[in-house]
Amino acid sequence: MADPLGFIESHLARFRSELYDFLRIPSVSTAGEHDGDTRAAAHWLAQRLTDVGLTAEIVDTPGHPIVLAEWSGAPGAPTVLIYGHYDVQPPDPLDEWSSPPFEPTERDGRIYARGAADDKGQLYMHIKALEAHMATAGSLPVNVVVLAEGEEEIGSPNLVPFVQANLERLACDLVVISDTEMFAEGLPSLLFSLRGLSYFEIHVKGARSDLHSGNYGGSVANPGNALAAIIASLHDAEGRVAIPGFYDDVLEWDAETREQIADLPHDDEAYRQELEVPALTGERGFTTLERLWIRPTCDVNGLLCGYTGAGAKTVLPNKAMAKVSFRLVPSQNPSRVTELVEEHLRAVAPKGVTVELVEIHGGRPWKAKLEGPAFDAAREALEEAFGTAPVPMGGGGSIPIVVDFEEQLGAPALLLGFSLPGCNLHAPDEWLPIDNFEKGIVALALLYGKLGA
Ligand code: BES
Ligand code: MN
Ligand code: MN
Repeated sequence: MADPLGFIESHLARFRSELYDFLRIPSVSTAGEHDGDTRAAAHWLAQRLTDVGLTAEIVDTPGHPIVLAEWSGAPGAPTVLIYGHYDVQPPDPLDEWSSPPFEPTERDGRIYARGAADDKGQLYMHIKALEAHMATAGSLPVNVVVLAEGEEEIGSPNLVPFVQANLERLACDLVVISDTEMFAEGLPSLLFSLRGLSYFEIHVKGARSDLHSGNYGGSVANPGNALAAIIASLHDAEGRVAIPGFYDDVLEWDAETREQIADLPHDDEAYRQELEVPALTGERGFTTLERLWIRPTCDVNGLLCGYTGAGAKTVLPNKAMAKVSFRLVPSQNPSRVTELVEEHLRAVAPKGVTVELVEIHGGRPWKAKLEGPAFDAAREALEEAFGTAPVPMGGGGSIPIVVDFEEQLGAPALLLGFSLPGCNLHAPDEWLPIDNFEKGIVALALLYGKLGA
């Protein structure tokens, strides 16, 4: 019988075509109209896990279902919990896609589709790595729990209660997640951190209705002007968040990590050009990669106010709304940030309007414990598969459940991602390199082999 790597090599074309079936299901979690598709994706996934030889089930939640699959035929070997998400972000704006988001298309060695990188493609790589062992050895080198949720992109509202209620079934020695990036093409990576998140809406209300801006302009406050003032108050001239107390819990990162970050092959000018911006900006005193990974931020995500149609309408709007998020770093806490933002808004709210803060969701930042046999196994597996030793990197994005896994299950998390910067996560033309899909499956098969040895 072939070895797992030989099996992978000779079945890559089928693995890809199966992934394309997965990617064709528009499992958009945020929009109610796709609830049926999201459920279909869960069923599809459970069936593939069953095909590989795991015991899979669909667990209903008040929202989208959880897919839970288990295999425990390796007594004495460690148990690995593999987490991923089968839901995807909405594909809009549709007319900016070069090929339809739910018709996976290969171009230039890339798989283009919504979810190719985030996270269906990466989740599926794990399942194929397991298949390679099962098909060649008739068993897995480690015990496995696969936990795939359909609500990651909407803040995992039902996953924390599920984990709390199923601690025994989810008991494991290690959590493995592929839902992040490699630092660059050909350069595999292990994550040392993820940022957390606090996401709000700020609602500003003025008069009883919109008003003629000539008849009333000058006598009552304009919610648009007021909201602009509020937003402007969120930063100082140094690019720091100007909310009192915001930095109190920000970890001063160790010199060794900052040196490792400085050693990475990053070029600000190339980065600037690729993004087509006139200049890079951010918090003074930190490099671009530090600003992305180990420093917190505050950003407007959306704005709503007044007349935005063609031409001019002289109107004094009576409401304005901004969606504002904060990326958090260890050891900031989203609930503390909510209190601080509330206090800040009370202090800066302009006269003549009412200001309301609505919390949408939050997640805590994560810092890896990058030591021990599991991390050594991951380093070796990535080096063997990619021909280059992995570099440590941070994650600018958030996967809030990681901290809950570590706390609730008492097992460390290992984050090794296979998408690339520029893969257009959450944007039009999302893609995953075919090369990473293939080498990633090899790396994961090697990792599971080493963890079991
Ligand atoms: N896979 C991403 C998170 C990610 C991407 C981390 C790249 C590190 C590097 C995940 O699906 C995601 O998009 N998370 C959301 C948070 C969630 C609460 C909506 C995010 O980071 O915006
Ligand atoms: Mn993701
Ligand atoms: Mn995402």
